Amino acid sequence: MPKYVGVLTAGGDSPGLNAAIRGIGKATIEAYDMNIIGFKDGFRGLMENRFIRLESHSLSGILTQGGTILGTSRDKPHKMSVGNKILDMTDVIVENYFKNHLDVLVCLGGGGTLKNAFRLSQHGINVIVLPKTIDNDVAMTDVTFGFDTALGIATEAIDRLHSTAHSHHRILVVEIMGHHAGWLALGAGIAGGADVILIPEIPYNIDKVADAICRRSKNGKHFSIVAVSEGAMSLERAAMLEIAEQKKKEAKTDEEIKAASVEVKKLSALVPGGTMDIAQKLEKMCKLEARVTILGYLQRGGTPSAADRILATRLGTACATCIENEQYGVLIASKGETAITVPLEEAFGKTKLVPQNHQWVESARLVGTCLGDM
Ligand code: F6P
Repeated sequence: MPKYVGVLTAGGDSPGLNAAIRGIGKATIEAYDMNIIGFKDGFRGLMENRFIRLESHSLSGILTQGGTILGTSRDKPHKMSVGNKILDMTDVIVENYFKNHLDVLVCLGGGGTLKNAFRLSQHGINVIVLPKTIDNDVAMTDVTFGFDTALGIATEAIDRLHSTAHSHHRILVVEIMGHHAGWLALGAGIAGGADVILIPEIPYNIDKVADAICRRSKNGKHFSIVAVSEGAMSLERAAMLEIAEQKKKEAKTDEEIKAASVEVKKLSALVPGGTMDIAQKLEKMCKLEARVTILGYLQRGGTPSAADRILATRLGTACATCIENEQYGVLIASKGETAITVPLEEAFGKTKLVPQNHQWVESARLVGTCLGDM
């Protein structure tokens, strides 16, 4: 009996999604003689049973395309907005899985998708996850597809900012994606030779950052590039969030948890932070004009790099082989040059942050880059 495969892409889009869809599709259809359908717009399409049949010809020419031919959304099966209500649509999703006689649902996504897929697997359906995100913060895999492309784009941006910063004797603060993990800012900062790199894992002291820039000025370098992760945090903000998070942990009832979450939001609003605030402070403290560049969605758009195409194809085809072998409930992870399977219960709910002693951190310090803490 040929197998029936459903595939969807969820969360923020990422270069390499189409290469992965193609890898799964071509291998399942051509090598293993399976049937494959693609649900539109993430878990919402599965809930509404909106799908397209994927055939060899529809997979041709998509390897190099950015975005996802299936569309994506941040919808969660257990908390979906339907009309003006937020409802748990898990049962409908499970029903549609069986209605389409699926043997497996393949979800291409990041940390959020992993959690959602794991929850669905607990409702009796077979699930496989492939790790994608430009943030590179999925645990148990060396790397996620999308990261290499975004790294290239952010590095090129820093390269370009150098000449204008130098010409105008300015501080150029560049905001790079990454709410929780600083891989992208750290990687692009090292590759682009940023003078300061601020990431969420290392709370910064603005005085230290200003000192580093002033030292450069004294040495005749009247410009600086500051690479900032979206989620970079001042020491003050980090301390406040820690207290609020502790309160959240201690909260027992749903009401207490809600109140603690509201407090976290209120507290964070009280402490200024973020890229604009950093630029304004540095301008005053260093007596150099400062400008801000927010790279934003440029980092997620466009054609994937060669490395991402290879990674997505490797993981996509490994996924097809897992389906052939009926190995379900796993994340297909990259380890060195191989693809391995990690049980979903070991992979979900974890975020791969930059360790304080990671070699990238050590190397950045050794070439004299200020990371905001010393
Ligand atoms: O995909 C992850 C990410 O790129 C984060 O770095 C960023 O904060 C987030 O997506 C924003 O995406 P959206 O606006 O699509 O929710």
